[in-house]
Amino acid sequence: MPAHLAVIMDGNGRWAKARGLPRVMGHRAGVEALKTTLRLCSDWGIGALTAYAFSTENWSRPGDEVSFLMTLFERVLQRELGALEREQVRIRFLGDLEALPQRLQELIVEASERTEKNKGIHFNVCTNYGGRHELVYAAQKLAERAARGELDPALIDENIFAAELFTAGEVDPDLLIRTSGERRISNFLLWQLAYAEIHVTNVFWPDFDVVALTKALVDYQSRSRRFGGLEPNKRLDNTNALEPTAVRHLGA
Ligand code: IPE
Ligand code: IPE
Ligand code: MG
Repeated sequence: MPAHLAVIMDGNGRWAKARGLPRVMGHRAGVEALKTTLRLCSDWGIGALTAYAFSTENWSRPGDEVSFLMTLFERVLQRELGALEREQVRIRFLGDLEALPQRLQELIVEASERTEKNKGIHFNVCTNYGGRHELVYAAQKLAERAARGELDPALIDENIFAAELFTAGEVDPDLLIRTSGERRISNFLLWQLAYAEIHVTNVFWPDFDVVALTKALVDYQSRSRRFGGLEPNKRLDNTNALEPTAVRHLGA
């Protein structure tokens, strides 16, 4: 099993259009797919789920779609916080949060604080997140420390750099899933995805379910990860691998 799964939840608008519905109904349906995915990841022992909810580029969408999304994030967070707490989920929001509406920022602080000691899955929601912004922001923080004389620039290495990213403390994603058939990264986790396996599915995000997730995991388990070497570097502890019978049972 991947220790960390990242998902680019794409295709909400096309899902809605195919049903003759307004785009925003696709976003609403997408929330249900995210809840299902989080629960499955948690049940199957995946340590972290990082989901791309809103990119720094998504502000360029029509104003009414952007406001619908912000209101949706607020409502869902308010409604689901109790369940997240009970289910031991540790939720965090990654991105430039200061640009978000005030009420959403308050809910984010509350949700992060109320779940920070939880021992279950790490659930990271990338909101106003951009990979390039994250890298520039990390560089700024390191430069400030160097300018204050607290850090010798010659000592900056990959670990020190990664510690300034929003994902500090999290292992890099092993598997990236992108739905809706698009074969691009769209400014997501540019640093962290360096050696992630990539699974693209044509399924639109609101239709992403147990079968689609199982297919992605089985695809992941068939990969030979070499990390630049010649030997497949398989996880030593492979006891979590999905049993073929379980996969058949799930209809994949
Ligand atoms: C992904 O679905 C959700 C967000 C980017 C917020 P889209 O809204 O991009 O759906 P499509 O790609 O237009 O179908
Ligand atoms: C990526 O989807 C961002 C999120 C899923 C939040 P987009 O729909 O914004 O990406 P592009 O525009 O197709 O690259
Ligand atoms: Mg899209």
